[in-house]
Amino acid sequence: MTAGRAAPQTGLRSNLVNYGDAEFALFLRKAFIKGAGYTDDVLDRPVIGIIDTASGFNPCHGNMAQLIQAVERGVMMAGGFPVSFPTISLHESFSHPTSMLLRNLMSMDTEEMLRALPVDAMVLIGGCDKTVPAQLMGAASAGRPAIQLVTGSMLTGSHRGRTVGACTDCRGFWGKYRAEEIDGEEITEVNGRLVGSVGTCSVAGTASTMASVAEALGMSLPGSAAPPAVTADRMRIAELTGRRAVGLAEEQLTINTILTPAAFENALRVLLAMGGSTNALVHLAAIAGRCGYFLDLDLFDRMSRKTPVLVDLKPAGHHYMEDLHQAGGIPRLLQEIRDLLNLDALTVTGRTLGEELDEAPAPFGQEVIRPREAPVYLAGSIAVLRGNLAPAGAIIKQAAASPELLEHRGRAVVFESAEDLAARIDDEDLDVEADDVLVLKNIGPVGAPGMPEGGYIPIPRKLARAGVKDMVRISDGRMSGTAAGSIVLHVSPEAAVGGPLQHVRTGDTIVLSVHRRLLHLDVSEEELTARAHDSKGHQRPRPTRGYAKLYVDEVTQAEEGCDFRFLQADTIVSGVPRSG
Ligand code: FES
Ligand code: MG
Repeated sequence: MTAGRAAPQTGLRSNLVNYGDAEFALFLRKAFIKGAGYTDDVLDRPVIGIIDTASGFNPCHGNMAQLIQAVERGVMMAGGFPVSFPTISLHESFSHPTSMLLRNLMSMDTEEMLRALPVDAMVLIGGCDKTVPAQLMGAASAGRPAIQLVTGSMLTGSHRGRTVGACTDCRGFWGKYRAEEIDGEEITEVNGRLVGSVGTCSVAGTASTMASVAEALGMSLPGSAAPPAVTADRMRIAELTGRRAVGLAEEQLTINTILTPAAFENALRVLLAMGGSTNALVHLAAIAGRCGYFLDLDLFDRMSRKTPVLVDLKPAGHHYMEDLHQAGGIPRLLQEIRDLLNLDALTVTGRTLGEELDEAPAPFGQEVIRPREAPVYLAGSIAVLRGNLAPAGAIIKQAAASPELLEHRGRAVVFESAEDLAARIDDEDLDVEADDVLVLKNIGPVGAPGMPEGGYIPIPRKLARAGVKDMVRISDGRMSGTAAGSIVLHVSPEAAVGGPLQHVRTGDTIVLSVHRRLLHLDVSEEELTARAHDSKGHQRPRPTRGYAKLYVDEVTQAEEGCDFRFLQADTIVSGVPRSG
C-alpha cells in the first residue's frame, strides 16, 4: 500500500544504502519502515533525525517528549519525515565522577549515529551543560546539516519572599549553612525551592551560556536560547526548528559552512558579553578543534579586554534566564554589540547574522541587557593568566571575583588531591589564614580524571565561620558557571602530567596579578627542577581499562578543549579568534 505523493528526492542522503545489493537494501528498509506502521513513501521525503536525550536521570531534559512532538509537527508541516532516536544523556548531578568525563563519549555516540543513520539533516536536542557541546562536537565531525535546539531554562522559585534559582543560590545557601548563618531547617526548606521546574539551570551557568553560544554560532534559530523550558515560546521554537531542518536537508547546508572562524569569534564575543561560564571556553576549544581551528588564548584575552559585560545575570549580576528572555534574549544582546560581531557569518536559517539582526524586534526599555554606556562590567570578564605556574595558560573570571583579591601575594596552602581536600579543609587545626592561597592539585583532565568542577574550593569552615567570604584559590580543574569567587582555573599543563602546579608546596609564595595577567610561583628555577626530579616515580595510579583508560590516554589539556586527540580535525587551519 502506498500513499500518493511527489516523486522521491533522489539526491537525498537517506536514499543511500549501506553495502552490497542496493535495491535489496532499499527493499529491506522499506519492509522495516512499514513494519513500524508507516507507508513506504515516507522514505522518499527528506528524513530528519531528531536526537532524543531524555533520561529519567535528566530533569534538565524533562520536556523532551513535548519538544520532540513539536519538532515532528514542524518537520511534517514542511514535508519531511521525522524520526527520533536516542543517544546517551548527561546530567550534572547524576554523572559520577563528573559529566565532563562522559562528554567526549556522548560526542562519539552523536557522531557515529549521525554517520550510521539514513538522515538528511538532524535536530540536536540538548540542554544540560555537557550535552550541547557534545552534540555540536559530534555533528561538526559528522559534517552533515544540523540544527541545535535547547531544552530551555527552568523556572525560578521563591524562598521566604526571595527569588531563588539553581544553582548560584544552591551554592549561596550552602555557603551560609557551612558558615552557620542559617540552620538545618532552612537549608532543607530552600532545597525544595531551588529548582522550580524541568529545564536547565536558571542563571548564566554553562547550560545557559552554551545555549547562547549555540545561537551566536548560528547553529540554532535566532531568539531560541532564552525561552524557559515550560513556555509556549519554547514549543513554538521547537516547531520552527523542525520546519527549518527540512530546509537544511533540501539545501544541503552543512555544518561546516556555519562553523567558520567568523562564527567562533561571534560565539566568544557573546560568551564575554554575557559574563558567561568559563566552561564554555573549554567547550568552544573542543568544537573548534573538530573544525580545524585552535583557541588562541592570548588573542581571546585581547578580545576580552575590549568586550563589556552587558547581561546582568547571576552569578556575576542579579537576574535569571527567564528575565533575559523577557528582555529580548540573545538577539537584543547581539544588537547591542553589533559593531563587535562578524555580521556576514552564515546561520542555520540560510541567512547571515546581519540579515537576521536587521529583522530582530526593536529595542524596548528593560533592565537585564544593559546599553553599552552602562555595562555591568567594563571589560575583561574572563582573563587569561600565564607565568611559571601556568606556562600553557590559566583563566580567572574576574567579573565574578573580589576586586581586592585580583592583585594578591600570599602563602600557598596545598591540597594534593580532591580526597586530601575533603579530609582536611574543615579540620579545626588546619594552618590557614584568610590571605593564604588555597591550591588544589590533580583535578585536571588526566588527574581526576575528567577535570571536575572542583575548582570552587570551599572556604575552610573555621574561616567561613569567622566571616571570610572569598580567598584566592588555584587549581587545574574547572568551576561551575553558576559559582563565583577569586578562583584561578584550568591551570595548564595540569599537575598529573607534570605541570609546575605539581611542585607547589605549602609555605611557597604565589603571586596573582590579573592586571599583569600573571600567575607566578615565587620559587627559584633550580629549586623547581630539584622538586621535579624528586617527584619522579610518585605518579598517581591511572585507570587501566575501559573508557576511563581511553580517556586518560587520549585527552588533551584545557586549552585544547579536553577533547580526544583522535577526534580532533586532521589539519589545523588557523586560530580563533583571528585577532584580538
Ligand atoms: Fe542541568 Fe544545571 S544541572 S543545567
Ligand atoms: Mg553547571
